[in-house]
Amino acid sequence: MMDQFNETVNFLKAEGIDAPAIGIVLGTGLGGLVSEIDIIKEIDYDKIPHFPVSTVESHHGKLIYGTIANKKVLVMQGRFHYYEGYNMQEITFPIRVMKLLGVQNLLISNAAGAVNLAFQKSSLMLITDHINLYPANPLIGKNLDNFGPRFPDMSEPYSNVLNDKLRAIAKEKDIQLHEGVYVPVTGPNLETRAEYRMIRMLGGDAVGMSTVPEVIVANHMSLPCCAISVLTDECDPDNLKPVGLDEILAAAAIAEPQLTAMYTALIGQL
Ligand code: HPA
Repeated sequence: MMDQFNETVNFLKAEGIDAPAIGIVLGTGLGGLVSEIDIIKEIDYDKIPHFPVSTVESHHGKLIYGTIANKKVLVMQGRFHYYEGYNMQEITFPIRVMKLLGVQNLLISNAAGAVNLAFQKSSLMLITDHINLYPANPLIGKNLDNFGPRFPDMSEPYSNVLNDKLRAIAKEKDIQLHEGVYVPVTGPNLETRAEYRMIRMLGGDAVGMSTVPEVIVANHMSLPCCAISVLTDECDPDNLKPVGLDEILAAAAIAEPQLTAMYTALIGQL
């Protein structure tokens, strides 16, 4: 396993990706930050050794290396999801590669449904905690001691330091930033009314299909991370309307400039 990581790291270094300080994962419909990057190198995922091979139509992602605010960033434009058929080790492979390349902070974004009905569509939610409802975990199997311990602590899964900076940035920019608990499910179907009700009863504020595997491996490696959800639909079990991908993407597009502004400002402070 470590040989695979090393091969990928050596490949990327040979391509000039030598010193990224900040890793970024951009979620569905949230590619806007890319226009802020002074790009040094872009590589399609399918050209990178040991990156998961894309099996599904929509996700032709790429890795982008460059600078934002004079900081070296390594950006995943598009991520791997469990519902596409990848296993948890595959989904999180790029995050571990980022760490090996020297990334010191990980900034994550996603599109999610609002189960806290006080939160409106097209607003942002800072993820302060999560409840993992995936039936799998990227750390199952032999522990990779080079990365971290067998039983990693999860008392601060999302960095207080990064979250405090994001709170201050939101205030300064007059951006509404909700805070809450993110609950990941496998998808790909959206939830039933009874499932939304259950997620709310469990203590969730938003539901989505990603992020937590990446956060778990980041914590395993003591890599500080933060995550912001763009809320794309309101999951009101008593008044549920059909939601399609186009509506989710349209709602994400409205909030995206705020997300981009928040992360650009954060990068400037790191
Ligand atoms: N459920 C799960 N994932 C999602 C949703 C949702 O309502 N909206 C955007 N991603």
